[in-house]
Amino acid sequence: MAKDESSKKLDSQLGGLLSEASSEEDFTGKAGQSMVLRLPGMSSKRIGLIGLGQSSSTTFAFRGFGEAFAAAAKSTQANSAAVTLATTSSISNDSKLSTASAIASGTLLGLYEDTRYKSEGKKPVLKSVDFVGLGSGAEIEKKLKYAEDVSTAVIFGKELVNSPANVLTPVVLAEEASKIASTYSDVFTATILDAEKCEELKMGSYLGVAAASANPPRFIHLCYKPSSGPVKTKLALVGKGLTFDSGGYNIKTGAGCSIELMKFDMGGSAAVLGAAKAIGQVKPPGVEVHFIVAACENMISGTGMRPGDVVTASNGKTIEVNNTDAEGRLTLADALVYACNQGVDKIIDLATLTGACVVALGPSIAGVFTPSDDLAKEVSTAAEASGEKFWRMPLEESYWESMKSGVADMVNTGGRQGGSITAALFLKQFVDEKVQWMHIDMAGPVWNDKKRAATGFGIGTLVEWVLLNSSS
Ligand code: BES
Ligand code: MN
Ligand code: ZN
Repeated sequence: MAKDESSKKLDSQLGGLLSEASSEEDFTGKAGQSMVLRLPGMSSKRIGLIGLGQSSSTTFAFRGFGEAFAAAAKSTQANSAAVTLATTSSISNDSKLSTASAIASGTLLGLYEDTRYKSEGKKPVLKSVDFVGLGSGAEIEKKLKYAEDVSTAVIFGKELVNSPANVLTPVVLAEEASKIASTYSDVFTATILDAEKCEELKMGSYLGVAAASANPPRFIHLCYKPSSGPVKTKLALVGKGLTFDSGGYNIKTGAGCSIELMKFDMGGSAAVLGAAKAIGQVKPPGVEVHFIVAACENMISGTGMRPGDVVTASNGKTIEVNNTDAEGRLTLADALVYACNQGVDKIIDLATLTGACVVALGPSIAGVFTPSDDLAKEVSTAAEASGEKFWRMPLEESYWESMKSGVADMVNTGGRQGGSITAALFLKQFVDEKVQWMHIDMAGPVWNDKKRAATGFGIGTLVEWVLLNSSS
């Protein structure tokens, strides 16, 4: 608890209120605990105490703190508030800045509520927040601006995922991407391909998935190039963009199949486009980034793909579709081939790919698959800064055995065992060996069941990773 000079001073200004609350155990400071006290006759109307626990001064913890701060501000209808830590004197300058930025992100995201589809929505009233004892001047301004840019992008990503599939069709997703390109036209170009163009590029795997839907597919490609200076590294971010996944003829049935949530099956593309929006704001030098989404809907109709059909991807490989519900990897196959054709050095793909990954890692950790230890390190560094959770999983080559087909080069599913691993091995078939590649299965963290809302997962880490590869 508060032991440094500034908090002792605050305590004495409040007539010992803080030490009393802690010694009498109204407030012990454990993580997640919060308490708001009224201050009669003071210029500040209330003081709130928010527990950080024995924390672990991680981004994750301070973001949670920011969220609790936002919740307290909301419930008290505060117009303005100041935030500080009980102990700031012992923290290094650098950690002060990243602490302020993590609290700011948590606050912005905590204040936000998606009321677009409600007939009545409350607007948050908190207008300003002062950060006390966490740095000052241009340095903190810059950090907070970055936190705001990324948080705005995360909110954009959440809105894409929350949008129902009857609103957010592949065409609308492509329009959202085009809007990013026109907002930041100094650094972005957009290429949107319709079914006919994809046909010309021989994207038979992706088009097979799109074939049943009345909503036409759109292949989205945004390219970020800094407006000046040399480009040292070329990156691609590829996102699964299933605006709805019914399963197709292998329709999702039965308890726990979550068919009513399958609007979130474009969470990978939301992460990619959210990152694009943030990159448009931040404009990192020395790095070129391609944002790629093969958007479509997995439906059922007479024009749809049948279980057992054979499709041919744009790299010429043939696939026996033994399960139409393993559609994400079919769309990603052509998207990965396209990404490699852009001549990039590194690719990260993100997808709500398998229920198996949710079984393995639970709802808040994404699975990471990559043959590259270097890329694994980069993303783990980026994730530490963003506060998002990832766990590396094995790309066990011997499991490829179950993906062999009698009629084609491969099947698209290999049974229940190691389902997220065989899915990753499938994707690997469509990536050039000279390209460093990572697959992120975010089927768990895309959605928060308790909040019944999207999380915006992936955006913070992707932006950090792009910055790590830039020359800033
Ligand atoms: N979009 C789903 C994966 C998913 C399931 C995400 C549940 C989030 C929650 C994906 O297209 C899918 O259906 N995968 C199948 C693969 C299986 C047929 C090999 C799965 O996980 O059941
Ligand atoms: Mn599916
Ligand atoms: Zn899917």
